[in-house]
Amino acid sequence: MSLIDSYQRRIDYLRISITDHCNLNCLYCRPLGGRPFISHEMILRYEEILRIVRVAVGLGVKKTRVTGGEPLLRKGVVDFISRLSHSGIEDLGLTTNGILLKEFARPLREAGLSRVNISLDSLDPRNFQRITGSDGLGEVLAGIEGAREAGFEKIKINTVLIRGTNETEILDFAELAFSRGLEVRFIEYMPYLNGKEWQRDLYLTAEEVKKVINTRFLLQPVEKQEKSGVAEIYRIKDGRGTIGFISSISQHFCESCNRIRLTADGKLRNCLFSDEEIDIRGPMRDGVSDSELAEIIRGSVKKKPERRPDFYCSFKKCTRTMDLIGG
Ligand code: GTP
Ligand code: 5AD
Repeated sequence: MSLIDSYQRRIDYLRISITDHCNLNCLYCRPLGGRPFISHEMILRYEEILRIVRVAVGLGVKKTRVTGGEPLLRKGVVDFISRLSHSGIEDLGLTTNGILLKEFARPLREAGLSRVNISLDSLDPRNFQRITGSDGLGEVLAGIEGAREAGFEKIKINTVLIRGTNETEILDFAELAFSRGLEVRFIEYMPYLNGKEWQRDLYLTAEEVKKVINTRFLLQPVEKQEKSGVAEIYRIKDGRGTIGFISSISQHFCESCNRIRLTADGKLRNCLFSDEEIDIRGPMRDGVSDSELAEIIRGSVKKKPERRPDFYCSFKKCTRTMDLIGG
């Protein structure tokens, strides 16, 4: 069984946001001035998420990634991961800001988590504070070590670059990748509704970043593997670790998009850049059958747009901020 959209793309990756709570306040992610949390009753219960996953697996979904907000803040997350790992999913990942990872890494690994991606935008404590509103850089670095000690092999660091904020740290991040054997992925800053307006000149293109890295290291492209996902990957001659570029703005990769998203409040989203959402929580709580749930998922996939909007022309910022989508 496969989920094929209207443009012949096979959808086999479900990203699941389990909470809108976060212990950081990154300037590109959450609305300035805050926002009330989604009420408890509106958040999907783990049992409900697991049911959706079971149905999605029956439709051909093979990969899930648990996101937030910050997923490690939700009570019972380790047990949830354990149950998810027995749901027929082949590739089970989690994206975290790393603050709580040191204590969670081993239990998560034992619960069956296969991969962990960590968001980290600065290696400088003052810059980290400026971007996240927190002085938790030490915790995140300890979290990365904790993940390694727990046996996670391919640890990815997601770094969003914003001009005038952290672009002076590109070489430090490259050094981190190569000296510690990590995969650092530079992500082009994407526009989301936020108190701070996204402007075209605030994002750094992957090409610009490559040029900076090439002043010190020689990047060699790694052949794209089936599972390499949204990033274009490079290694350095004789170095450990890799560098990836996620160029959602300068060079979209919609033609190979294989994902849909489930938000913490039970909406299916078929494109990161589209506001279209299909409610799955309501029908589920009204008692629909598994085959009706499958139809809802299929319906969302069928409506997946061919590509994201053109940012330079008619782009309308999404009404959800990233903390409500999960990246
Ligand atoms: P892997 O399983 O390691 O491939 O993870 P991933 O890259 O799918 O997940 P992660 O949560 O680490 O996402 C990294 C970043 O890629 C996100 O923060 C987004 O910035 C970007 N990204 C994720 N999904 C999409 C997408 O559907 N479209 C675009 N344009 N960017 C995406
Ligand atoms: N642009 C690019 N990446 C973003 N993320 C969150 N908001 C944005 C944005 N506006 C990234 C985080 C995290 C991932 C899940 O999403 O850095 O690594």
